[in-house]
Amino acid sequence: MYSRVQGTGSYLPSRIMTNHELAEQVDTSHDWIVERTGIHQRHIAARHENSSDLALAAALQAISAAGIEADEIDLIVVATTTPDLVFPSTACLLQQKLGVANGCPAFDVQAVCSGFVYALSVADNFIRAGQAKFALVVGTETMSRITDWSDRSNCILWGDGAGAVILTASDTPGVISTHLHADGRYRDLLCVNGGVSSGADGAYAMRMQGSAVFKIAVKTLDAIVDETLAANNLQKSDINWLVPHQANIRIIQATAKKLGMSMNNVVVTVDKHANTSAASIPLALDTAVRDGRIRSGDVVLMEAFGGGFTWGSVLLKWV
Ligand code: ACO
Repeated sequence: MYSRVQGTGSYLPSRIMTNHELAEQVDTSHDWIVERTGIHQRHIAARHENSSDLALAAALQAISAAGIEADEIDLIVVATTTPDLVFPSTACLLQQKLGVANGCPAFDVQAVCSGFVYALSVADNFIRAGQAKFALVVGTETMSRITDWSDRSNCILWGDGAGAVILTASDTPGVISTHLHADGRYRDLLCVNGGVSSGADGAYAMRMQGSAVFKIAVKTLDAIVDETLAANNLQKSDINWLVPHQANIRIIQATAKKLGMSMNNVVVTVDKHANTSAASIPLALDTAVRDGRIRSGDVVLMEAFGGGFTWGSVLLKWV
């Protein structure tokens, strides 16, 4: 038993914040942000939009693309760093909003920017074990709510959005392999300054040692590419598409170089979406599926790196 992606969907809030607008709030410029990150703009959720609302819009598209009914879904996994509530989980809120009343399991996965890769791996394992047939896997984030909008070294990076896939049981892969890792020793390089149990002085906000994160991200993503190729006995040239986590164009270019891959075979959305954490890979995937770049038979490598540190890959064949 294998799993395969049967449909994709995504959602971006309508409000766009450009670099120029940001430069009116903090001491930065459009040119600096583009040169260091590749980001031109980001989408920001409206006050009434929470992560579960973004997830709902993306999920409805994925369900429609997969040609199934919502109540056929028998597993919901939501990757998010920015849940609506402490509890219920965003997955349970999404289940209710979708009207799925069949009692299927629904839970959140927290691995920050690697969240979607983690969630997809969890759903793939449920399906391989025969415990689910139609899994809804979502990455959804309202990163704007934990952004310190006065910190110019950080606030330029983030955006809001959601992406979703329907993962279904299949006789052939589909998902070829998943690799997940974490190393909590790096917890302080990229973190939020408080939480439910530890408390926080004032509002939650991200803190990051940007250039240290950058260097470790490039090195670690190199290693996950090697690990994925070796585990599957594949050559770099066997990969048709790279769908990377969209953190920084320079990190993406470094991974493409490692793969000997032209940027024409890399799905890039960081310019328009910025870093949407767990939502970035499914947003990029949906973009390239809908515009016809990713086609049946293509081998797609997804990779991510994020707070924790966490990192991982999903290799799949587009069926
Ligand atoms: N506008 C103008 N100047 C700025 C800005 C800004 N927005 N931010 C920082 N600077 C200044 C700094 O103050 C510093 O000035 P100084 O030399 O006078 O001290 C100078 O620019 C260089 O700062 P660095 O932090 O060294 O700049 P760097 O080239 O590393 O770029 C950035 C910073 C964009 C954050 C980069 O380090 C980065 O992208 N890191 C990766 C982090 C990341 O992607 N994290 C997301 C989560 S993890 C993941 O998803 C991979």
